[in-house]
Amino acid sequence: MTSAQKPVFSPSDLQTWLEIATEAALAAGAEIFSLWGKVQQIQEKGRAGDLVTEADRQAEAIILEIIKRRCPDHAILAEESGQLGQVDNPFCWAIDPLDGTTNFAHSYPVSCVSIGLLIQDIPTVGVVYNPFRQELFRAATSLGATLNRRPIQVSTTASLDKSLLVTGFAYDRVKTLDNNYPEFCHLTHLTQGVRRSGSAAIDLIDVACGRLDGYWERGINPWDMAAGIVIVREAGGIVSAYDCSPLDLSTGRILATNGKIHQELSQALAATPQWFQQYAAARAQKI
Ligand code: IPD
Ligand code: CA
Ligand code: CA
Repeated sequence: MTSAQKPVFSPSDLQTWLEIATEAALAAGAEIFSLWGKVQQIQEKGRAGDLVTEADRQAEAIILEIIKRRCPDHAILAEESGQLGQVDNPFCWAIDPLDGTTNFAHSYPVSCVSIGLLIQDIPTVGVVYNPFRQELFRAATSLGATLNRRPIQVSTTASLDKSLLVTGFAYDRVKTLDNNYPEFCHLTHLTQGVRRSGSAAIDLIDVACGRLDGYWERGINPWDMAAGIVIVREAGGIVSAYDCSPLDLSTGRILATNGKIHQELSQALAATPQWFQQYAAARAQKI
C-alpha cells in the first residue's frame, strides 16, 4: 500500500473523510440494530468459530456504497469483500462492518462498526459506532477524539497493579501454541483484571475513553484495529508493537494503552512464563 508519491491533503479533507466515515458507520449500525435477534443465516468462514451473518454482509454493502460513491479514487480493504482497488493506493479504507460477530450471532450485545482510513499505511481517520449503546467514537490525526461529539481522554492509571486491561483470542487459538493464553494468565495475576469483550474495536475505544487502561492482542487484522488506533492516539494514548517499537499492521499484534503503563505492560508481556505453553504442548502429545 506504499506509494512513492507523498499524498497531499488538508485538515478540511480529514474533516470530510471523518464525516463520510460517520455517515457510513451510522447507516451500517442502524442496519445491524434492525437485524438484532432476527439473524437467520450464521455460517463459518473456514476457521472454526469464525462466523459471518447476513448482518455482516448487509452492513458492509451499505458502507461500500457510501465510500465508493464519495471517495471513488480510494482503495478499500473490507473484511467480507477483501481488497478493492490497487494495493499501492496511498489511501485505503479498512472496514469491519460488524466487529464482534460471535457476540452478535449469540445475541450478546457487544458489537460495533469500525471504519478507518489508512494514508500510506498510517491510521489517520477512525470512526467506531456501537449501535447497542448508541456510542459514536470519532477521531482524525490532529483533530482530537470524541464520544458522541464530546472530547475524550485516556485514563490516568499509572501502574500495572492498579490497572484494568482487556485482550482477545484470535480464531486460530486452537491451532497455535502462540494463542495468548500464557499472557492472559500472567497479566491476570499482575493487574486488577483482564477482560475479553469479543470486539477488538470496542477494546480500543474503551482504552481511548478511559474505561480500560490497556489492550493487547495478536492475530488481528487491519480492519479490526485501524479506526480504534486513531481514536486511542488522539485521546492521548500510545499504540505500538508489543516491544514498544512502531506498530506494523501486517503483524496482527498490537499494544494500546493510556501511555502511563505502556512500558510496564510491554515488559510484562515479554516476561510471560512459558510454563503454560509447555504444559499445553505436553498435553497435546498425550491426546
Ligand atoms: C474479532 C473480534 C475479536 C478478536 C478477533 C477478531 P470479528 O472480529 O475483534 O475481539 O479477538 O481476533 O477477529 O470476527 O468479530 O469481526
Ligand atoms: Ca473484527
Ligand atoms: Ca467482522
